[in-house]
Amino acid sequence: MFIVLLGPPGAGKGTQAKRIAEATGLLHISTGDMFRENVKQQTELGKLAETYMSKGALVPDEVTINMLLDRIGRSDAAHGAMFDGFPRNVTQAVALDDALAGRDARIDHALLISVADEELIARLGGRWICRNCGALYHERNDPPAKPGVCDKCGGELYQREDDRPEVVRQRLELQKPPAALIEHYRTAGVLTEIDGQRPLDEVTNALLEAIR
Ligand code: AP5
Repeated sequence: MFIVLLGPPGAGKGTQAKRIAEATGLLHISTGDMFRENVKQQTELGKLAETYMSKGALVPDEVTINMLLDRIGRSDAAHGAMFDGFPRNVTQAVALDDALAGRDARIDHALLISVADEELIARLGGRWICRNCGALYHERNDPPAKPGVCDKCGGELYQREDDRPEVVRQRLELQKPPAALIEHYRTAGVLTEIDGQRPLDEVTNALLEAIR
């Protein structure tokens, strides 16, 4: 099964993708995580991506699509994956459709998580991430037992550079799923819209229900 998770920055795509992966065993592919790993390692790709990410802009399609196609060419993605943060526009969606068609597969579900802007700002401002295992927390909605320490592995928690208020404003301006992308999946008959404003468990249940 191939699934795309759509939604604005802070909608809960990463949080829910981890939960769905745990529940279903599906491979979780996050283009944001891939870029951040490259930035951390200071690869050429990472240095390039950082110039866009730090401004709250999207990394150019050609770079992102090549990275994604390379990732899904690996054997662990042969029979299914859940894409978090990809595609962001119709060009990326068509590239993914074409790659899957080449192996007799298609996107089975496009799950659109909707959340109002004020809530997105509150979520991004309060997000903490484990430097070691990538677990996600929120200081108000889903806090760790001990501030600054990951419940799962004891790793140090940090806040993302692009969660600074001025970058968040840009991301919300530039990175909401465009209407044409939503229409692309509606036309394909695979779109489900999920109210992401609800508590974490309710959103997880709604997403799992949609893909069952
Ligand atoms: P990426 O990492 O994909 O960032 P994003 O889309 O902005 O999404 P986020 O990771 O910020 O939010 P999320 O929806 O995953 O929310 P989360 O689960 O963390 O991309 C980063 C950058 O890389 C981009 O800006 C771009 O430059 C580049 N990039 C990536 N993909 C690209 C592409 N395809 N093309 C071009 N460029 C690309 O949740 C947020 C917080 O809310 C957490 O603290 C969580 O605990 C809390 N929370 C979640 N759900 C709930 C809930 N139901 N109730 C209460 N709190 C909740």
